[in-house]
Amino acid sequence: MKFLVLNGPNLNLLGQREPGIYGENTYGSLCKRLEEFAAAHGSTADCIQSNHEGALIDAIHAAQGKYDAIVMNPGAYTHYSYAILDALKAVDVPCIEVHISNVHQREEFRHKSVTAPACVGQICGLGLYGYEAAIRYFLETVH
Ligand code: DQA
Repeated sequence: MKFLVLNGPNLNLLGQREPGIYGENTYGSLCKRLEEFAAAHGSTADCIQSNHEGALIDAIHAAQGKYDAIVMNPGAYTHYSYAILDALKAVDVPCIEVHISNVHQREEFRHKSVTAPACVGQICGLGLYGYEAAIRYFLETVH
């Protein structure tokens, strides 16, 4: 399968950004891990990160016909981007939403995801493993 792994704002700072919450592994190491995991399963994972809403929307549009599934952590856009919600609805590519932290143990504004309704499901609180879990789900269920 071909996976698009999309990360939103501030996730480029993984490893240095609030390490008590997001851990000490860098964004680069996350991408390497997912690329290797996908390759070990006869698949590919292309990682894209942007701090810009429009660039994330463009990447979702471009996924149509190119990728079998999207694994997306929209960062803070999760909580208010109806434009990303609409982009996910506009394409025929299934998406799982991932959050590194357990958003439900954090501030109230993080409890609500406006983007999750357009996703197959949501994984949160499992650290970076959540991305791999999402890929595993697609590998086992989509044929
Ligand atoms: C996050 C949770 C969001 O609330 C936050 O804005 C992020 C990261 C997570 O992975 O836990 O940027 O999506």
